[in-house]
Amino acid sequence: MAEFSRTTVTAALIYANGPIHIGHLAGCYLPADIYVRFLRLQKKDVIFVSGTDEHGVPITIKAQKEGKTPQEVVDYYYKEIKSSFDQFGISFDIYGRTSDPVHHKISQDFFLKLYEEGKFVEETTMQYFDESANQFLADRYIVGDCPSCKQPGAYGDQCEKCGTTLSPNELVNPKSMLSGASPVLKPTKNWFLPLDQWQPALTEYIHSHPEWKPNVLGQVKSWLQDGLKPRAMTRDLNWGVPIPLLGTEGKVLYVWFDAPIGYVSMTSQLTPDWETYWKAKDSRIVHFIGKDNIVFHCLIFPAMCLAHGGYQLADQVPANEFMNLEGEKISTSRNWAVWLHEYLVDFPGKQDVLRYALTASSPETKDADFTWADFQTKNNSELVAILGNFVNRAFVLIDKNFESKVPVKAEETGLEDELRKALVEIPAKLDAALANYKFRDALVLAMEVARIGNKYLAEAEPWKIIKENPAKAGTVLNYAIQLVAHASIALEPFIPFTAERLRKALGLEDCSWLEIANFDLIPAGKTLQNPGLLFEKIEDDVIQKQIDKLAQSKSSMELAKKEIAPIKETIEFDDFAKMDIRVGQIVEASKMEKSKKLLKLTVDDGIRTRTILSGIAEFFEPEAIVGKKISFLANLAPRKMMGIDSEGMILMAEDADGSLAFMQPSKEVWNGATIR
Ligand code: 2FM
Ligand code: ZN
Repeated sequence: MAEFSRTTVTAALIYANGPIHIGHLAGCYLPADIYVRFLRLQKKDVIFVSGTDEHGVPITIKAQKEGKTPQEVVDYYYKEIKSSFDQFGISFDIYGRTSDPVHHKISQDFFLKLYEEGKFVEETTMQYFDESANQFLADRYIVGDCPSCKQPGAYGDQCEKCGTTLSPNELVNPKSMLSGASPVLKPTKNWFLPLDQWQPALTEYIHSHPEWKPNVLGQVKSWLQDGLKPRAMTRDLNWGVPIPLLGTEGKVLYVWFDAPIGYVSMTSQLTPDWETYWKAKDSRIVHFIGKDNIVFHCLIFPAMCLAHGGYQLADQVPANEFMNLEGEKISTSRNWAVWLHEYLVDFPGKQDVLRYALTASSPETKDADFTWADFQTKNNSELVAILGNFVNRAFVLIDKNFESKVPVKAEETGLEDELRKALVEIPAKLDAALANYKFRDALVLAMEVARIGNKYLAEAEPWKIIKENPAKAGTVLNYAIQLVAHASIALEPFIPFTAERLRKALGLEDCSWLEIANFDLIPAGKTLQNPGLLFEKIEDDVIQKQIDKLAQSKSSMELAKKEIAPIKETIEFDDFAKMDIRVGQIVEASKMEKSKKLLKLTVDDGIRTRTILSGIAEFFEPEAIVGKKISFLANLAPRKMMGIDSEGMILMAEDADGSLAFMQPSKEVWNGATIR
């Protein structure tokens, strides 16, 4: 491997249209943070760059859904996302935004250079246009019937019912989502990057990286095999980076053109040396992303960089697969997710537990599954029982028997040779795992330090020998405290909050990676500050609450899925006018004998009282509805039911779960008021 002087680590610029969930964390932010912390511990020159992607259709669709402007949407989510990452200890050196004027300028300059050097192909194509909204329609803004499964509601780029990839002109009966109008095809000019021309250079680039993860290479090679096609780098949209050319109003840079340039523009806001981090031959670039971003980072952005010239191409793109939740795909729209901002409220101070659990089951090679039961086990059986227990025993014994001062190494127990041997192999193995992006294995190795420590204390039993041989017990505790220090360094990339507590307790300031396995790191006689219990057991009821929360999402979704009844056949006004609907008041209510469904209601209709039998007994207690104002159909022909004449019908709304609600006036109105 070539020698590099500095590393630029990027983590995907997430769309600023929703909060962060565990899928995002496991997919790229946690591994990126672990990797960067590892390089920092090695005193390497590294910068960690990320931010929000604030352009493109994902933003405008969210704005439309929420009745907000795109700017309002991105302003809100930028703040929320940044704050969640800060609290979770994702240690970016800069967290920028693509709406920043600096970014606009840098991406426009990038575009202009390609334009001026003739690197684009200008092409006029026919695109759907909404005449009432006076706007070209992005693929996601067109819906119609799927040509494949025939279902209505397919989008211009994909049918979500059957999964078929589509282009807008394949949709049957297309409609604009902006106005509902049928769009018309109109010619429009856009600038295409001829990826086909870059295919040979890209193939050579990809072949020069046989060390990339198989999941990454697999996707990239299949794109290359299918043959790359020109891709439009501009779009007809009114939200994004304006194209820096005259006569391009209503067009912007394609979001996947400007977003990766965001890494560069954000670096320029971090350091005046930004060009070195992107252009120098001895600079190494590593992109952490999720698997849905592979083609953009491994082919399209590299093609842009090759066309531009001067930029280094990524040395590694360690993309992860997806993290599922309780056996199902995480879904924002179904609210099937563990949201970071909610976790931070529900589990204050427990950032490291989630960091640990997600890393331990990281989707490095294939999709993985997060379950709350596993989260609980990881906490209770590993963090509490191994790491927490070991550290606590060491500190408590030193507090109690050595006035909180590190005892001297004197008489050994015979176990120490084996201990040193076990530890000496760990740093190199840990180095190799982290350098090769094997974070799950690396975490096991780092925890091994605590496991070894626990085993050592259990075998040496200093609490037993302290009375008759305090020197020997002191030796054991000296070794134990060195191991606590080693654990604090080895675990820093993974559980940095805990590592910091340990460093404070030990008075370890600037620790280097190389100190793992140094058994003279904490000098004898040093006063320690017991950090208290590092982790606490998470009880079943806490976990159950989270499981219930998910069950809630599921049942709301099921309700939402319930079919809305189709609209009945059209009627004339006269048909409606025949119905005499009025406000009345329930003055008496009682159960009907032998009927589970019917209540017998006495209703004051303003003129007299009348009896109405209503099939609402399963939903209301009679005494609870006396006095309620209701709406009823007053001129329905009387009907005899169970020997009683029912004179009219109470109007009820049926909710998605089948429960019923009265139709009540929004202000106090008199009994007998007509409804029209
Ligand atoms: O998938 C996404 O959320 C994209 N916004 C990622 C962009 S990464 C980079 F290229 F900016
Ligand atoms: Zn379909």
